[in-house]
Amino acid sequence: MTMAEIDYSKRSFNYYPTNAIVYTKCIDGRWSKPVVSNDFNFSLHCFAGVFHYAPSCFEGLKAYRGADGLVRMFRPDENARRMESSAQYLDMPAPNLEMFLDLCTLCIQANWDFIPSFESGASLYLRPVLIGINPQLGIHSSKDVMFAVMASGVGTYSGAKSLVPGTAVLSRNYDRAATYGSGGYKLGANYAQSLHAYNLAHKMGYRELLFLDSATHSHIEEFGSSNFFGIKHGCYITPNSPSVLPSITNKSLRKIAEELGLKVERRTIFIDELETFEEVNSCGTAVVITPICRIDDKVTLESGTITREYKYPEICGPISEKLYKRLVGIQRGTEEDTYGWCMFVNAPK
Ligand code: PLP
Ligand code: COI
Repeated sequence: MTMAEIDYSKRSFNYYPTNAIVYTKCIDGRWSKPVVSNDFNFSLHCFAGVFHYAPSCFEGLKAYRGADGLVRMFRPDENARRMESSAQYLDMPAPNLEMFLDLCTLCIQANWDFIPSFESGASLYLRPVLIGINPQLGIHSSKDVMFAVMASGVGTYSGAKSLVPGTAVLSRNYDRAATYGSGGYKLGANYAQSLHAYNLAHKMGYRELLFLDSATHSHIEEFGSSNFFGIKHGCYITPNSPSVLPSITNKSLRKIAEELGLKVERRTIFIDELETFEEVNSCGTAVVITPICRIDDKVTLESGTITREYKYPEICGPISEKLYKRLVGIQRGTEEDTYGWCMFVNAPK
């Protein structure tokens, strides 16, 4: 299917075929020259660590075709640094900043015709992955790795229009990240941990699952796909916890919030405080800003389970909408990028 034939309004956040992937391997400490390939299947040794002990981390960032026709990546240097810290946690080699940016650029250029138009509001999602590939049996970190960047032209996360609110449920019976665990890194294993709980939430009709701190189950950590922020009394409030993924979107929104004259607080948010927010959202690369209109808390008592409902506006709140417009405006070149966040990508030669 060519770019002209794709109807991005029908797309959600999913895998849609593109032209090519880009990859390189680090064997015995030496990185190979990047390969651009239209073969989407890898051949790996069945004893590769990734099949057993999950030495695997990944990133997510988007390339946008701007109103001016130029193609931008949003803060890819931040993704490079986060992947480096995830790899450090797994004690395996990581691509340096230059390699990370080079492979993302090559991947965008190899899939140039799959970058959605500005008018579509869609984007080319890049998924860099880093996996341990050397054969092993004992529990060791991987010494050899493959770093690959793949792409998919995506619509909104839920498939609904941007800023259409969704519901969430507190995860009372499943934790995403242990107190001294890996939640602050973008490891595949963290997502494996959330799959079953997500399936249960989806079966109950919820769009999102909101995890609590694993030690006390008394305060808000983050959604399975994104960070949490709430707005009240002119203040942008988001949890501060080492087991929450340090979101690049949240970091950017905190800057924009200050620019818009909001106070910014990063602190513990106890469950009861949910009652006091005027606006609640999830934020991240995939979800951008997605308003939450209700959070249910199913509390088990001796007498049975009761549901406490925290309700928010059925449409995106005014402050969240301002934050969204400024963020998306910078990403798509309709607002001045005063922070120098975007990196431009040249068309392939
Ligand atoms: N939290 C989780 C668990 C995520 O998967 C993501 C997505 O990457 C985020 C937060 C948001 O991070 P970012 O804004 O860097 O995409
Ligand atoms: C992203 O927002 O880029 C993510 O990686 C979240 C995704 C796993 C839903």
